[in-house]
Amino acid sequence: MNAISHDVAKPAVAPGSQGSKLAALNAWVAEVAALTKPDAIHWCDGSDAENAALIAQMEADGTLVKLNESTHPNSYLHRSHPDDVARVEHLTFVCTSRQDDAGPNNHWMAPADGHAKMDALFDGCMKGRTMYVIPYCMGPIDSPLSRCGVEITDSPYVVANMRIMTRMGAPSLARIEREGTFVKGLHSIGELDPERRFIMHFPEELTIKSFGSGYGGNALLGKKCHALRIASHQARSEGWLAEHMLILGLENPQGETHYIAAAFPSACGKTNLAMLIPPEGYRAKGWKVWTVGDDICWMRPGADGRLYAINPEAGFFGVAPGTSAKSNPNALKSIQSNTIFTNVGVTADNQPWWEGLDDGQTPVTDWRGNAYDPAKGPAAHPNSRFTVSAKQCPSYSPEAENAAGVPISAIVFGGRRPSLVPLVFEARDWTHGVLVGAAMGSETTAAATGAVGVMRRDPMAMKPFCGYNFADYFTHWLSFDQAGANLPKIFHVNWFRKGDDGSFLWPGFGENLRVLEWMIQRVKGEAGSVETPIGHLPKDDEINLDGVQLTDEARAKLFGFEREGWQAEFASIGEYLDEYGPRMPQALKDEQQRIAKALGN
Ligand code: GTP
Ligand code: MN
Ligand code: MN
Repeated sequence: MNAISHDVAKPAVAPGSQGSKLAALNAWVAEVAALTKPDAIHWCDGSDAENAALIAQMEADGTLVKLNESTHPNSYLHRSHPDDVARVEHLTFVCTSRQDDAGPNNHWMAPADGHAKMDALFDGCMKGRTMYVIPYCMGPIDSPLSRCGVEITDSPYVVANMRIMTRMGAPSLARIEREGTFVKGLHSIGELDPERRFIMHFPEELTIKSFGSGYGGNALLGKKCHALRIASHQARSEGWLAEHMLILGLENPQGETHYIAAAFPSACGKTNLAMLIPPEGYRAKGWKVWTVGDDICWMRPGADGRLYAINPEAGFFGVAPGTSAKSNPNALKSIQSNTIFTNVGVTADNQPWWEGLDDGQTPVTDWRGNAYDPAKGPAAHPNSRFTVSAKQCPSYSPEAENAAGVPISAIVFGGRRPSLVPLVFEARDWTHGVLVGAAMGSETTAAATGAVGVMRRDPMAMKPFCGYNFADYFTHWLSFDQAGANLPKIFHVNWFRKGDDGSFLWPGFGENLRVLEWMIQRVKGEAGSVETPIGHLPKDDEINLDGVQLTDEARAKLFGFEREGWQAEFASIGEYLDEYGPRMPQALKDEQQRIAKALGN
């Protein structure tokens, strides 16, 4: 690592350091260095040697703690600042020239004000630190659906995580040099002061500025900031979709694989569904689930009119608590080695530990690094996470590296709905499906700071991530229904329906395969349904429930249609759409009114 001059007129890249062949990139790096005043600049090449050196440095300064090498080879624990453990939606802004373009779904600031605010924070913030330049590619390096970015950060923890979560380093830099365009992401952990923390997006400039947080969703800029907020904006102008969706392949005993994309809000089951292991009886017959992605899906129509999807990420940044050999064995197998754990507890022999791991061990240290005391809360933070390469997942699909993407047969929406919403229903057509997505509601979780368990509308699980006005976003979704299109069927699921005693009525996890099986039968025209105003519900016995114990209450609530409750729900959906004023597409309002009328409102 070389010292650099702070004089912008001189070359940005210190002698011996890598630099790029792209003048625009070098100029931006120089500009950032002049503002942030780092002691050194390091261009990341993504090599093993570079990673080893960064890990050694972080071990030496305490950023990483090495875990038990014999049980968890090459794995580390990171303890974040205790005030920096989740996304901060109240500090996240979309800065478009016109406020209306950001919409009521985003916090807005005028671009000039946003830059001024951020640049004041960045001024001199890297003094005494090294500035890392991370070229990365979201999606397979050779895919036309992929997009590149460069993140500048002063956090080696961010570099190590970006190396797992994206295609980072020399091949990405080569693509950026070829294409000449890239998303600019500037990040500093600053002082980790919640009072001096902002995550700002400038979609019109393909630029992100993030200050004061090291947490994944705020700091790994390739993920939520680029692959969702900026990409959703790019996707709208280029005719594709950037979604908060898992992608899985469902292989049946005949060897056919159908791909399903599913949007659930944060901590509502995407990673679990993406890595699903079929129940014993299904496994014996040859059913298999392939994981393409667990969090983000970019898709666009192919020549045959179908939607083709890629996972822009290369790794998983998954919720640790609740991950066990029983709930998600594929995730557990993925994280036995080469994994970074953030904010979990540790056992006496230095193994990572979290609530719900169910491995018979007990933690001695909590996520803050204090002696574990159950009276003081859980050992692992509820939003503690693991970062691991997707390649370590036993169910990782070889098709995830396919530059053409995978064809999507079904899109699924869902959330945490303790009441009213049945286990599964199917939208009548695309427009109805878009309304089902737009009307999604869910209880909030620990993935963002704020109250947990509060019902809120989270359209298509994109409330925290859509980089533009939701009304325009729904218009964009509706626009895919055009001549020549061969669109997936749209479904809604609810794994979280509760009984009168407050317990979950559906066993969930692996058993969710039964619902996916019904969806594909519907796609193939092989299963019937009961038509209701809210859509098609499965007919009796059309979902295979062999071996599932359900009480009469569970059956009634999981498969029933509760007219009165839906009347109230549709009134509330109507009010929600109205919050967006005349910009809300009429087709969606018409659909809401048609259903409200059919419900007898
Ligand atoms: P992000 O990564 O934050 O976007 O969230 P995610 O959607 O990937 O959530 P994840 O799969 O990590 O699930 C989080 C929580 O949901 C965990 O507590 C799981 O135990 C729980 N969960 C997942 N699937 C099911 C299910 O089928 N039934 C029930 N009851 N809980 C589930
Ligand atoms: Mn997510
Ligand atoms: Mn996840």
